[in-house]
Amino acid sequence: MAAATAVFAQSKSKEDNSITRTRYLPEYTASGELILPKNFSEWVYVGSPLTPHALNDGKAGFPEFHNVYIEPVSYEIYKKTNVFPEKTIFFKELQLVLPGQFPDGSRTEPSGRGYFPGKFNGADVTVKDTKKYPSGWGYYNFNHHEPKAKTAKLQAQSDCGYCHEASAKKDQVWTQFYPLLDK
Ligand code: HEC
Repeated sequence: MAAATAVFAQSKSKEDNSITRTRYLPEYTASGELILPKNFSEWVYVGSPLTPHALNDGKAGFPEFHNVYIEPVSYEIYKKTNVFPEKTIFFKELQLVLPGQFPDGSRTEPSGRGYFPGKFNGADVTVKDTKKYPSGWGYYNFNHHEPKAKTAKLQAQSDCGYCHEASAKKDQVWTQFYPLLDK
């Protein structure tokens, strides 16, 4: 019994140590494309805005759930400083809703009528780097379908960043939709 307790205590302290994670920094190809960030689904989840096709004339700009993650060590730094550090990465994974039963695209499941997550559907990514990008952030699209692209070219500010600069609450990030980051 005593031995078992000791083993448990040891493995618990290992688990605590593993919380000290290595920061994942953006990786680029030789030609300067951003490489699809690794292990993003294990990052800190901050929110899921939802723009169903059925409520957007059948063609939502960003279909349909937008599951947003921030790189975890950048999040740790942000919590302390209240500033997104250089090389912060946001990952917005798109996810379709399950087929609707009603004209608004909703369906009924045991929890109620609404929108339920279906297949993954590509991703959009932002990277903060005030030396590399004139506006402070780089914007990348990894397809609005699966599979996600392995690498992505920098998007023009007039395609992506202008909207973030105009209406996102804090440093081009829509913290107004992410209570965890909204401070
Ligand atoms: C017309 C406005 C608009 C345009 C254009 C736009 N976005 Fe966004 N973006 C938003 C809004 C609003 C959110 C908040 C979450 C949501 O609704 O998806 C967002 C959130 C994001 C996020 C999550 C992190 C954050 O800043 O909140 C990423 C990553 C992102 N957008 C990337 C892109 C990329 C890449 C493009 C260009 C391909 C792009 N966006 C173009 C409005 C826009």
